[in-house]
Amino acid sequence: MLSEIGGTAGHAIVIDARRPSGTGHRQDGNRVEYQPTMPILDQFLLTNHRALVTGGGRGIGRALALALAEAGADVAVADIDQNTAESTAEALRSLGFNALAVRADVTKVPEVTAMVDAVTAEWGQLDIAVNNAGVAEMSDAESIEEGGWNAVLDVNLKGVFFCCREEARVMLPRESGSIINVASMSAQIVNRPQHHAHYNASKAAVVQMTKTCAAEWATHGVRVNCISPGHMDTPMTADMDDEARATWVTNTPMERIGTPADLQGAAVFLASAASAYVTGHDLVIDGGYTIW
Ligand SMILES: NC(=O)c1ccc[n+]([C@@H]2O[C@H](COP(=O)([O-])OP(=O)(O)OC[C@H]3O[C@@H](n4cnc5c(N)ncnc54)[C@H](O)[C@@H]3O)[C@@H](O)[C@H]2O)c1
Repeated sequence: MLSEIGGTAGHAIVIDARRPSGTGHRQDGNRVEYQPTMPILDQFLLTNHRALVTGGGRGIGRALALALAEAGADVAVADIDQNTAESTAEALRSLGFNALAVRADVTKVPEVTAMVDAVTAEWGQLDIAVNNAGVAEMSDAESIEEGGWNAVLDVNLKGVFFCCREEARVMLPRESGSIINVASMSAQIVNRPQHHAHYNASKAAVVQMTKTCAAEWATHGVRVNCISPGHMDTPMTADMDDEARATWVTNTPMERIGTPADLQGAAVFLASAASAYVTGHDLVIDGGYTIW
């Protein structure tokens, strides 16, 4: 459904409601007069959307895969761990959703290419991509080894960039797509008590890389945004001791650690037409941690 939503006389701006990015196509002129194209709740629906979530085997990725599926998308669950990818995909299928499991190591560019190709081979298109796979290593800065540095940066930065590149390869020709990179509030603040300079650096770089891709693809129908969680209760943080957790709670205005469910609404928003004019944004979801 194409709807004209305004503009100066003779200079229309048209929103194509079928397009998952919900991006408007400026035909001419610079002025837009807002007229809703769809009822507001319908703008959040992801029906007929095909999504990919990396690191979807557990933790945040699993929760985001479920959220996208509940909103109507078919979801490809990618993970370096085939078993957990299958487990999430099977959980989605058992709820009646369409899901696909793909094994891929995001640090290997040919595997990233094959991951995207597996989705388009199955479903013919890719509308939404959540680049969530990430790793952390605790180490004082003076003790970080080259191997540890490379391991963290390879997954968290190189992996996210090449996922963006390969996803854009199939989204740009269709002039439609929404890419969501999972960064962290660690892009802005230095976590305490845990030390991980390489992790913090990787996440700050993801935010800036996201803005750069967003700017380059803004007129090509592909939006790129970040979600930046605060401290979350996931397998990644499971081995943090009670003292560290207490520090996190004390330093969080809402006085609790987040859960993957706290991120689900933001992912659906950024994936959907409801965020049609949002690109290059870093949506921090941290219980207020970064305001102190
Ligand atoms: N847990 C937190 O407190 C927190 C806070 C801010 C940001 N984050 C970020 O959220 C994302 C998810 O974190 P989580 O807590 O769910 O972690 P997690 O360790 O529970 O899950 C990460 C998933 O990514 C997969 N993965 C790891 N390396 C991969 C690779 N090379 N290729 C493909 N998949 C790979 C793992 O197998 C796992 O399923 C990460 O990017 C993390 O940095 C987490």
